[in-house]
Amino acid sequence: MKKLSARRRHPLAAVVVLLLALAATGGLYAAFAPAGTAQADETSQSLAIDEGKKLYSVGCASCHGTGGQGTSDGPSLVGVGSAAVDFQVGTGRMPAQQPGAQVPKKKVIYSQAEIDQLAAYVASLGAGPITPTEKQYDSAGADIAKGGDLFRTNCAQCHNFTGEGGALTNGKFAPSLEGVDAKHIYEAMQVGPQNMPSFPDTTMPEKNKQDIIAYIKTVNGDNSASQGGLKLGGLGPVSEGLFGWIFGLGALVAVAIWVAAHTAKAKKS
Ligand code: HEC
Ligand code: HEC
Repeated sequence: MKKLSARRRHPLAAVVVLLLALAATGGLYAAFAPAGTAQADETSQSLAIDEGKKLYSVGCASCHGTGGQGTSDGPSLVGVGSAAVDFQVGTGRMPAQQPGAQVPKKKVIYSQAEIDQLAAYVASLGAGPITPTEKQYDSAGADIAKGGDLFRTNCAQCHNFTGEGGALTNGKFAPSLEGVDAKHIYEAMQVGPQNMPSFPDTTMPEKNKQDIIAYIKTVNGDNSASQGGLKLGGLGPVSEGLFGWIFGLGALVAVAIWVAAHTAKAKKS
């Protein structure tokens, strides 16, 4: 018993050892980390491309060609960029199932991690629009009124005044924008899928894209936009005018008939 207590260390010894160990680890980390992470980034990037290539060979190559050069069943993907892949696969359009006027949206079958890998592989085939970061498509604090202006000038002719969507020629259509992710709205503007024109940053700066996203989010669902009264499909003045004609005039005619019928009855009796 005595022996033990004699050998017992100072109560603070453990703390000192711990502090020393922490300092040493911190120092080592500081000395080696920067070089290490840069290398790790590069290897994880090439790993993603490898994984993406595997997924691509199985799910996409039959239509887009083994090297993304395109076939009669699908366009070339060289230079479409990671944003196009994230949009097409992230909205469930790709992989397409059968040929048609326009590839419909389906259930998304890849995880976001797999989509990122597919995107990394396709981006490695040729430079193109890059998947936006969260900061780029975040519309908090954006100018909704400005977004509405921009939307009416650039988008409404196809997507309708409040983004309800509409038919185009040859069986194609501009889809409703209700419930579409901010990221996918941003990407659609970057890449211009199918019949839609693209709006690169040179013609539509990041700030304006955010304004448009804020507008779409306001008129669609999120804040339940139709402030007051019936939305009437959000089709604009024509549907509202028609509604006025049919129901407004209809009601007047009905009242007139009712009055006439009752005056006739009153006269008889
Ligand atoms: C059954 C054939 C088919 C398969 C499988 C397929 N695609 Fe497609 N892909 C198409 C067609 C057709 C289009 C053109 C779509 C359109 O114009 O509506 C297209 C368009 C695209 C585009 C847009 C290109 C552009 O110019 O913007 C991308 C990106 C894309 N596909 C990626 C993929 C990826 C990634 C996969 C695998 C996960 C895949 N596709 C699987 C047929 C296919
Ligand atoms: C010439 C007609 C046209 C114009 C102008 C246009 N679009 Fe589109 N848009 C389309 C078509 C067609 C599609 C469907 C593409 C497909 O399915 O491959 C589409 C798809 C989209 C999608 C994807 C929706 C979804 O369900 O995944 C978004 C978001 C979108 N457009 C936003 C916009 C915005 C914002 C503007 C204005 C800056 C705009 N569009 C201008 C025709 C148009």
